[in-house]
Amino acid sequence: MATAYMRGVNWASCLKQKDLQSIETKYYTGAMVVYHHVNAFEDDGHVIFDVIAYSDTSLYDMFYMSKLKEGFQDESYSQPSYKRFVLPVHSDKGVAVGEDLVKLKYTTASAVKEKEGKLMCQAEVFCKGFELPRINYDFNGKKHRFVYGNCVEESALAKEIAKFDTETKERIFWSEENCLPSEPVFIPRPNAESEDDGVVLVSVINSNPGQLSFILFLDGKTFKEVARAYVDAKLPKDMHGFSSRKEISQLNCAAWLSDRFRH
Ligand SMILES: [Fe+2]
Repeated sequence: MATAYMRGVNWASCLKQKDLQSIETKYYTGAMVVYHHVNAFEDDGHVIFDVIAYSDTSLYDMFYMSKLKEGFQDESYSQPSYKRFVLPVHSDKGVAVGEDLVKLKYTTASAVKEKEGKLMCQAEVFCKGFELPRINYDFNGKKHRFVYGNCVEESALAKEIAKFDTETKERIFWSEENCLPSEPVFIPRPNAESEDDGVVLVSVINSNPGQLSFILFLDGKTFKEVARAYVDAKLPKDMHGFSSRKEISQLNCAAWLSDRFRH
């Protein structure tokens, strides 16, 4: 499993699951700032890990108290990229310097040997302006295809959400005028037949005059609206799709929904 956080020190190492000893190879890449990991899994002698990466610390800078007191402004915010890194975990002994050790057909990520035990990794960039990634967590640690997240091309405060397909590289979107959606949370259907068989829950702050905020239910496959539940309360801007108020939390909605699916 790769290390979580790279800032300033631009290398990662892998630990063997069996004894948590580090394998000998060190993996280098350019410096980046990572808050959120999408998923990680193994495939045919490679560890693949997907992250949302920033090239600088402008996101941190926005949250200094002095900046917040001026009001939420993010003109200098540099948008993140959804990146896939692939770390070959087989030995590089006998491999020529300059050779790419990534042998997977479905990715453009590379890990080029610089010298014995040192690989320089270049990520595959899936898309830009995508944050707060969620997958079907039945696929946590396994190869996933679909990712749900916030679109943050224009601002860190997302007005749109998307479903991203890592195979076709296509995104499908949901948005509504004057609405701020939360991180989308995928809930699988009991006995689901595919990875995206389920619903996506989103709490939506609605600033249209006279209208209530709501919990939105989207079809996991089509990303089309299935239903919405209006909430006669002010929804706060949440963190990771969870609200602090129990009665309007998505956890409760998830439980309600999964209960409904059972009958
Ligand atoms: Fe976070």
